[in-house]
Amino acid sequence: MTSANTSSLRIAGDRLWSSLMEMAEIGKTARGGCNRQALTDEDKQGRDLFVAWCEAAGCTVSADAMGNLFARRAGIDNSLPPIICGSHLDTQPTGGKFDGVYGVLAGLEVIHALNDHGVQTRHPFEVVCWTNEEGARFSPAMLGSGVWAGAFDLEYGHNRTDKEGKTVQQELQRIGYLGAVECRPRPLRAAFEAHIEQGPILEQEGIRIGIVNGVQAIGWYDLIIQGVPCHAGTTPMEVRRDPFMALYGILDKLYQLADDYKPWARMTFGDIRAEPGARNTVPERLLVTVDMRHPDRRQLGNMEQAMQAIVSNECGKFGLDWEIKQEFDAPAISFDQDCINAVRNAADALGYSSKEMVSGAGHDSVYVSGVAPTSMIFIPCEGGLSHNEAENTGKEDVEAGCNVLLHAMLGIDAG
Ligand code: GLV
Ligand code: MN
Ligand code: MN
Repeated sequence: MTSANTSSLRIAGDRLWSSLMEMAEIGKTARGGCNRQALTDEDKQGRDLFVAWCEAAGCTVSADAMGNLFARRAGIDNSLPPIICGSHLDTQPTGGKFDGVYGVLAGLEVIHALNDHGVQTRHPFEVVCWTNEEGARFSPAMLGSGVWAGAFDLEYGHNRTDKEGKTVQQELQRIGYLGAVECRPRPLRAAFEAHIEQGPILEQEGIRIGIVNGVQAIGWYDLIIQGVPCHAGTTPMEVRRDPFMALYGILDKLYQLADDYKPWARMTFGDIRAEPGARNTVPERLLVTVDMRHPDRRQLGNMEQAMQAIVSNECGKFGLDWEIKQEFDAPAISFDQDCINAVRNAADALGYSSKEMVSGAGHDSVYVSGVAPTSMIFIPCEGGLSHNEAENTGKEDVEAGCNVLLHAMLGIDAG
């Protein structure tokens, strides 16, 4: 069978679900989630399982210098650029079973479905697993795809450190995934990424498939406020130079800023550290991570300027030195119209309800879309909950999204 007469082809939903549950055993947490952070022993186990499954499905697997994995199923004409799909296997520290993993294993299920029915595609099909998408262990997010696409250079990628000072390169070497293939783009016919929505829209509106037409801009900043450490019992309140006194007003005004830019702005303080971190000492330093997002990069720029003014003003009240370092600047993205149409055509042909939407979360597709025609497929997410161990989605939705992925790829292959 070639891809011209495959309209009745369907993936095996039970097999895909079982693979998701088996992968979720690696790094599983007591509350039913996953802790499989990038380049840990658990990540190695997850990668090993994925590679074994891909090889058993007849794919050739290669790893590049950032540990990105590419599992290739040959096409009829292997001089044609491949059609790829995939996402990431790393998770947040308190992550779920689906974020990223779904996109990788849905890609593998596409390969299985093609094998089951003896379908030969014109283009090679590849399933990719990108390294360190989450940015939880090594900042920034989307690091493997970012280096691959040229947004970051390899040295920058290799030298990123975790909180213990271990580098990406050391950890890639340690777990055996520092690959020999150069980490840089090659011609691709198209790229797709299936993912849970990670928000409430599809579930609330009773829609099965999100046709993702773009991703909002993301800014990550490190806010550092310098204080003077002193004794908690003996130092009168009015003479302290306590960075928390400034932070109090900063947080209040930054939440107000998000409100000024509603409904689209997002503002998150995911990690606040006081140094030296002793109960009875006023901190010498506060380190606050700020994650700020908006679909319009210019509006995000206005928010950045406002943040500078707020921090300067609030720290000035207490005579405190401060610094804001930009850690990550992911652009707002519009995906490729042909790939968006391929997703819509697949959803329509399969009889699934769908709507176009912008992604609130960052994804590897942000950087991939800079070098290849790209789009994404969303499925609903229970209660809109993600980056949470309770993250869940329905088995039927998992199956539907994978069928859309299969037919979007076949549509491009035949086109
Ligand atoms: C990726 O997980 C993000 O932070 O959007
Ligand atoms: Mn993800
Ligand atoms: Mn995530």
